[in-house]
Amino acid sequence: MTALLEVQNLSRDFGGVRAVNRVDFQVQQGEILALIGPNGAGKSTVLNMVSGVIPPSEGEIRFDNKLMASVPGYEYAGLGITRTFQNLQTFDDMTVLENVMVGMHTRTRSSLFACGMNLASARSEEREMRKRAQLWLEHVGLDAESASLAGSLPYGKLRLMEIARAMVAEPRLLLLDEPAAGLNHTETLEMSRMFQDIRKNGTAILLVEHDMDMIMTIADRIVVLDQGTKIAEGTPREIQENPRVIAAYLGEDEE
Ligand SMILES: Nc1ncnc2c1ncn2[C@@H]1O[C@H](COP(=O)(O)OP(=O)(O)OP(=O)(O)O)[C@@H](O)[C@H]1O
Ligand SMILES: [Mg+2]
Repeated sequence: MTALLEVQNLSRDFGGVRAVNRVDFQVQQGEILALIGPNGAGKSTVLNMVSGVIPPSEGEIRFDNKLMASVPGYEYAGLGITRTFQNLQTFDDMTVLENVMVGMHTRTRSSLFACGMNLASARSEEREMRKRAQLWLEHVGLDAESASLAGSLPYGKLRLMEIARAMVAEPRLLLLDEPAAGLNHTETLEMSRMFQDIRKNGTAILLVEHDMDMIMTIADRIVVLDQGTKIAEGTPREIQENPRVIAAYLGEDEE
């Protein structure tokens, strides 16, 4: 079976600093792969490369067997890769519904011209977009807030809004950078359940997260980075018992 995502020998330098060093891993169809590691390990940098935000310094990324090097960032959602960010990227003076609809513009077919002329095809596409965005707002429990300005929502709800935005594009691979950061225990549990539902519907997830309860509950496999290098890969149980992983995290606590 070929992997949905295959990362080979992936490296990224910032000036003289090697943030990611020769990392290999695969994400299978419908799998939840967690990418963990101490602060500064290179997790966000890997997600930024896999989502086309920054190019690798070295190495290859294949999605669905397609080499991604020459694919421009704006085509990723259409191909089936969407993401959320470690720091929220929301439009405060737009409604929650509009914020979610932003995630769909790459998947719609109507040209700017057709939209401008208010042609029937554009109108029906707009209706379809609204319906899908509403549906995802229901999924994440934000249907009551759909007409509110995003700027008026508490932090936890904005995190959910970003997930809805990533999901309206109906991705095959969802990239999440610390989705549970700043959430309380109950919110984190609800979010874990939501990710399991998303996976059940066939979307694979590459999850960067510090919340170990979430990781250990929902990850099928875990890849561990430390100072840019992969130091372990395995099931949650294998990772919990891995001496190198334990040492990397203990080293972090001592700081
Ligand atoms: N744009 C950038 N310019 C320069 N250095 C960067 C840049 N982005 C990341 N780095 C450096 O690369 C290394 C890895 O950073 P990265 O943000 O990927 O870590 P992380 O594992 O996501 O950490 P955290 O858990 O704190 O989010 C760090 O040393 C960081 O300072
Ligand atoms: Mg990060």
